[in-house]
Amino acid sequence: MKKKLKLGVFGFGCVGQGLYHVLEETQGIKAEIKKFCVKNKNKKRILDDSLFTYDKNEILNDSEIDVVVELIDDADAAFEIVKQALKNGKAVVTANKKMLAEHLEEIFELQQKYNKPVLYEGSVCGAIPIIRNLEEYYDNDLISSIEGIFNGSTNFILTKVFEERKNYTEALQQAQELGFAESDPSLDVKGFDAKYKLVIAIAHTFGVFVKPEEVINLGIDKITDADLKYARENGLGIKLVVRAFKSNGNVYGLVAPQFIESTSLLASVRNEYNAVIVQGAFSEKQLFVGKGAGSYPTGSAVLSDVSALTYEYQYEYKKRAQGSKLTFSNDASIEVLVSFAQKSQINIADFEEFKGGYQGKGNQYMHGLVKLEKLREWSFMDGISIILTPEFNFVRSKQVEQRVLVN
Ligand code: HSE
Repeated sequence: MKKKLKLGVFGFGCVGQGLYHVLEETQGIKAEIKKFCVKNKNKKRILDDSLFTYDKNEILNDSEIDVVVELIDDADAAFEIVKQALKNGKAVVTANKKMLAEHLEEIFELQQKYNKPVLYEGSVCGAIPIIRNLEEYYDNDLISSIEGIFNGSTNFILTKVFEERKNYTEALQQAQELGFAESDPSLDVKGFDAKYKLVIAIAHTFGVFVKPEEVINLGIDKITDADLKYARENGLGIKLVVRAFKSNGNVYGLVAPQFIESTSLLASVRNEYNAVIVQGAFSEKQLFVGKGAGSYPTGSAVLSDVSALTYEYQYEYKKRAQGSKLTFSNDASIEVLVSFAQKSQINIADFEEFKGGYQGKGNQYMHGLVKLEKLREWSFMDGISIILTPEFNFVRSKQVEQRVLVN
């Protein structure tokens, strides 16, 4: 028997309003919003004032509220809300990927301690139902890799830059206006947002809790006009690709821009759409595509979590429960094309295997295998653009192992 749930919602921004509207349109769901908790008292809102409070305890201490839906921007404040909600015996739905990625193991433990679920389908790839699929459909240890496009804003920007020849700043501004970008858009363009989502996906794919700072993220912010020209001349696109895979007892993962061939499954994923490719030992590849950002797509994912709570669904972290012994590692090298202004600090000795290079129009290019830790070092330096080659050549601890994950 489905139960009618009362919701207390934190935040009435892009996703909060999306949730409100999709819930209004859904006849079948047994849930209603009792209160929104918001920060700004002076903002004009489309709903009656009586639906809003400015005091978080009005929701957290309301014994009638079964579910706290956390949709605010501030990851630290969000974590405090989630902890208190669980402690007060409430289930939680959140879409806060930064908060989840930073505290996932703790949130896993808090769920056991208070015996209340935290669901977060909306935190990874918007409307693509990936977390519950990883938990339920892929409830075994046969997944070999998960990869794809996990950030809508950067995919939108790259689409506009490639297809409409818009400049980067203009395209970013449009992504902000459409509500795709984070309040701090550097989280999108520097690959942090995609990394947070990858960290969450790794827990449900491989049963490993990894800290975000362990995962290397390269963004699209350093891509140069010369890189775009190179891509166009060679019939390639560029996408911000997220990837994690297992190999020899380890899980490797990173976020980086990559040259993409027109035959790649990711090539036709445009604008704010996201994609997830799951590869299994026997099932081979499955591709999921859907809107990764925006009010209604994310609101729909949040609604689906609320609906799941009406039948008391909770994540079981199945791969972990099955005794996954995998550990996260960055001890590997990867093939990249690096471009930088002349006289920069990069030289041939930085490469594990140097494959070639040239100079032209004030830029230097070098191509070869580089250790992941070296890429991390370069990612903090200005004026260095790093793009993975289309083949995704990966070498683990000196043993050559060629993997073609994107094709
Ligand atoms: N800024 C995020 C993106 C929003 O562009 O994908 C959805 O998580």
